Amino acid sequence: MAGFVRVLDDFYPHPLRVREFATKLEYAENTAEAEKLYYKGYLSTADHPFAEAGLELLARRLGRVLRRNAPIGEFRLIFETEGAPADGFRKTWIHFDSSVSQYSGIVYLNPDAQCQGGTAFYRHRELGWDHMPNVASPEMAEACQRYGKTVPEFLSMITDDGFEIDSKWRELSVVPMRFNRCLVFDSRLFHARLGGFGARQTDGRLTQNFFFDVVM
Ligand SMILES: [Fe+2]
Repeated sequence: MAGFVRVLDDFYPHPLRVREFATKLEYAENTAEAEKLYYKGYLSTADHPFAEAGLELLARRLGRVLRRNAPIGEFRLIFETEGAPADGFRKTWIHFDSSVSQYSGIVYLNPDAQCQGGTAFYRHRELGWDHMPNVASPEMAEACQRYGKTVPEFLSMITDDGFEIDSKWRELSVVPMRFNRCLVFDSRLFHARLGGFGARQTDGRLTQNFFFDVVM
C-alpha cells in the first residue's frame, strides 16, 4: 500500500468519553534528550484501555489484521508555546516513521472549535521524494552515491533537512484536524504536525498515536 493515506471519520463510538479520559491522565515530557529535539510535547503512557481498543477499531475499519511492535496508543499533548520560534526551532519537523512501523495512525481528539492545523505531507525538493525508500533499495544506493554519503550519513542529512521546512520541502497536502477523525498513512511518507495550541490539558492539541504493521 505505497503512499497509502486514509481518513477515518467518526472513529470512536463515544469520542467524548475518550477525550474526557485522556484529559485526566498524567502527561510527561520524553525522557531522552534526543527525542525532545524532535517531539516537543507531552505523552501519556500507552497503559490504558483505549490503546488496545483503538488498535482493534483500526483493524476493523481497515479490514486488516494488525500488529504492533511496541506499546502504542499513547495520548499526546502539544501546547501553543512548544517548539515556538523563540526556542530556536520551527514549530514542527518533517520526518518519516518507517523505522518504527509500516503505518501510522493519529486520532484527533479536540472539539472542532479548538482544532487548528492538522497533518501535512511533503516532497523533498532536491530528491523529488514524497516518501523514504527502503534503506536497501537501489533508489537509496543511487542517492547515497550522488551525495557521496553512507546510508547513516544520508539519513542524518534527511533528519536535519526536516527542520528546513520552507527551503527543503514542498507541501503536497494537508489533512485538517477534526474531532474524532483518525488519519492513517504509510509511515514512509514525509509528514509533519501543523501547529500546537492551547495552554492546558483541556485546550491543548490532543491526539492519540498508533504505529502498526499489517499482517494480512
Ligand atoms: Fe510522525
